[in-house]
Amino acid sequence: MSIHISAKKGEIAPIVLLPGDPLRAKYIADNFLQDVKLVSSVRNAFYFTGTYKNKPVTVGASGMGCPSIGIYSFELYNEYDVECIIRVGTCGAYTTDLKLFDIINVERAFSESTFALHAFGFPGDHIYHEGNAYEAINEKAAELRLKIIKGPIHSSDIFYRAKKGIPAIAEKNNCPAVEMEAFALFSNARYLKKSAATLLTVSDIIPTHEQMSSEEREKALKAMMELALESVLNI
Ligand code: HPA
Repeated sequence: MSIHISAKKGEIAPIVLLPGDPLRAKYIADNFLQDVKLVSSVRNAFYFTGTYKNKPVTVGASGMGCPSIGIYSFELYNEYDVECIIRVGTCGAYTTDLKLFDIINVERAFSESTFALHAFGFPGDHIYHEGNAYEAINEKAAELRLKIIKGPIHSSDIFYRAKKGIPAIAEKNNCPAVEMEAFALFSNARYLKKSAATLLTVSDIIPTHEQMSSEEREKALKAMMELALESVLNI
């Protein structure tokens, strides 16, 4: 057991998929994995371990924001010997060049967050994906003929803000979309010498206020989950 995860050692697979939402984790376990077992429900942050095409996989909730994913991913890597975490989340597009349902494989996360600096002494405003998961996802997407976007995104600590428009860090570094977790996940992976990737589906277009319906969210999740799980087979 770790502080925030009650699974026993050995009940978490070496590869973990992390959506933000506990019910999304349950949906993924119920619909994409076989032989599923609930291994932790501390704070209702459900973690399920099962198999995908006979490969053990755990899926669990990261919660929202860098502090939350910072806790869960650190404990998974450090106390459960997890080797690879793939965040499977949603993002908001800053530009109408992106469309709802587009999938982004995050090459690096830019952030105003001080997480990396204060946790590990990593200076700078961005952290790259770590290990081989990013490339495994790119290769699998090519094999499946699934068009995905590869590039930087903005990992923000802020969902609601007074000032309209694209935040300076995103504008300066050509980040087409925003989410709230990749920066801390990549920081932990870098410090602990583990593998981490982030796959995002565009769920809203910020300038036009276009949003997916809940039904559409489910469908959109399917393409991203199939890509993530098929990639896991090559990691
Ligand atoms: N901001 C931050 N994170 C998000 C958004 C957003 O607009 N949409 C989905 N994740």
